[in-house]
Amino acid sequence: MPSSRQLDLSHFPRRTLLENPTPIQHLARLSAHLGGANLYVKRDDLIGLGGGGSKLRKLEFLLGEACELGADTIITVGARQSNHARLTAAVAARAGLACELVLTRAVPRFDSDYTDNGNILLDDLFGARVHDLPGTANALEFAEQRADELRAQGRNVYVCPLGGSSAVGCLGYADCAAEIVAQADAQGIAFDRIVVPNGSGGMQAGLVAGFIALGLDPSIVAAHTVLAQAEPMRTTTLDKANQTAQLIDANLHVESSAIVIDETQRGPGYGIPTDSMREAVRLMASMEGLLLDPVYGGKAFAGLLHSVRSGEYVAGQNILFVMTGGLPGLFAYRSAF
Ligand SMILES: Cc1ncc(COP(=O)(O)O)c(C=O)c1O
Repeated sequence: MPSSRQLDLSHFPRRTLLENPTPIQHLARLSAHLGGANLYVKRDDLIGLGGGGSKLRKLEFLLGEACELGADTIITVGARQSNHARLTAAVAARAGLACELVLTRAVPRFDSDYTDNGNILLDDLFGARVHDLPGTANALEFAEQRADELRAQGRNVYVCPLGGSSAVGCLGYADCAAEIVAQADAQGIAFDRIVVPNGSGGMQAGLVAGFIALGLDPSIVAAHTVLAQAEPMRTTTLDKANQTAQLIDANLHVESSAIVIDETQRGPGYGIPTDSMREAVRLMASMEGLLLDPVYGGKAFAGLLHSVRSGEYVAGQNILFVMTGGLPGLFAYRSAF
């Protein structure tokens, strides 16, 4: 997947949280077991701070902007087991900023594994203040009100949207597109598909914007939505991709055909386990020793397995799955296994 263009993001404020490109590894045993396409993983779960995960790519740019604006406090929103919230808390701790998390009970789980273990345990260790809201609450509205309250007390507050998926945050995944292209060229692999989960849409939007900026076909990115239904998510992701592309270069434009989203793995809803997710998590763990999370990666990888088994991805093709981390979430889902 050679590109004649470079992606230069050096003029955006950025705080380094990744020391090196994350590795791309071949899933030799699983590929042989399935007998179809060659499967590879991009190990964004190895980005290490705060329990690790892909959200650190977005936080490099979000924290960069927050520091540039002189923020002393970061507020973000999410579900109670949000990985983005946990990593925002970790990054804030490292940068010496106060952090407040507005977390909703969007997932109907009231057992202590879910309410008190996993990500939420780590939020507390990182010193974040958690606002516990019902599932129906408008978390962003609450966050903005809380920010105004703190500003009235003289604090400088940076509010980060759901999943860190502002255009600035999505730059982290535009950069990842360039990283994948460089690694694919260096390793001599031409990828036919790059499979990702879609929660708030920022990872897919950023990758798509990155491929467009590099002059490559963005529809190589295939996402499995785990939160919203496919149609509204397509619109949201397209908007975010366009905002991100235009932040990189005002002349760039993303067509709706660039946004490939499948909904079949979402199941009954966000954060609710499915049998195919359970099978995907167990298969990856037992054949490759790698851990998928139950909310995002587990469902997206189940979609990839389905595409291999149904013959959509065939022998000779190279399929790259982006492993996004979220390991702490597994401990909140003991009952699912
Ligand atoms: C582990 C993990 N994977 C994937 C995603 C999805 O990324 P996005 O919200 O950018 O679509 C998230 C987002 O919360 C996540 O925590």
